[in-house]
Amino acid sequence: VKLLFCADLDAAEAATWRTALAAALPEATWLDGETVRRDPAARAGVDAAIVANPPPGSLQGLPRLRLIQSLWAGVDRLLADPTLPPGVPIARMVDPAMTAAMAETVLWAVLALHRGFFDYAAQQRDGVWAQRPQRRADEVGVLVLGAGEMGRAALQRLQAQDYRARAWRRSGGPPLPPLLGQAQIVVNLLPLTPATRGLLNAAFFAALPRGAALINVGRGAHVVDADLLAALDGGQLAHAVLDVFTTEPLPREHRYWQHPRVTLLPHVAALTDPRSAAAVAAANVRAALAGGPVAHRVERERGY
Ligand code: GLV
Repeated sequence: VKLLFCADLDAAEAATWRTALAAALPEATWLDGETVRRDPAARAGVDAAIVANPPPGSLQGLPRLRLIQSLWAGVDRLLADPTLPPGVPIARMVDPAMTAAMAETVLWAVLALHRGFFDYAAQQRDGVWAQRPQRRADEVGVLVLGAGEMGRAALQRLQAQDYRARAWRRSGGPPLPPLLGQAQIVVNLLPLTPATRGLLNAAFFAALPRGAALINVGRGAHVVDADLLAALDGGQLAHAVLDVFTTEPLPREHRYWQHPRVTLLPHVAALTDPRSAAAVAAANVRAALAGGPVAHRVERERGY
């Protein structure tokens, strides 16, 4: 079995992945993007590709390719490559360790927003001693956008902590505007598709109760940045916890860095864990090469 591993990762991360994947797929011979680009004979042999945001063009001209397995949960950047071979199945990564990490991050952010801990951190910086009202979790409405693997895990964690948490899904769910009016905290876990890009805009923020908060752990492009900044500046939104940005790394001069109502993370809400994800990828590669169904297959028209 010949497998292409092509990842936009730093050298240490790539090495960790190579070790984990080699252990999970001992039967495989591994090729890298460079070799495959240069050597037509190597290209002709590639059976499946395991990729993390590969450079556009990496997956074209591979006549035997039977599976493209993403190491990322979100495949928006992968699907943006116009040279992706049309008939080959693509699989998202669904990694249990990543799902658990996402539920933890969402719980941390919701708890901190609900209990005012970000405000207390600011008070400490300013040397201010002031106690704020204490609300109960069951008084806080939380709306999770997205009901996929991570959205559902976050929802369950929040409900287990007594939050009034609900999830919204774009297709086949209830309409969004009535839910927004009851959401003190919104958690974005949607996939980025043409239908969800820019969904978090001025109209969206205006439909929330005044003083609501946003947790964006989906993709930066879900948010219209100018609209979010205006909502934060005007107090319509009290706080935003942002893990993802339209441009990453977030440019040093971006207003989010210094904004008093923004808590910022460098895209770490949930990382794929090579220890568990390599096994997931291996099972999918074996299934695809045996002609069986591929788990977590992306529907290209839908965009996730
Ligand atoms: C992270 O953002 C991922 O899509 O895996």
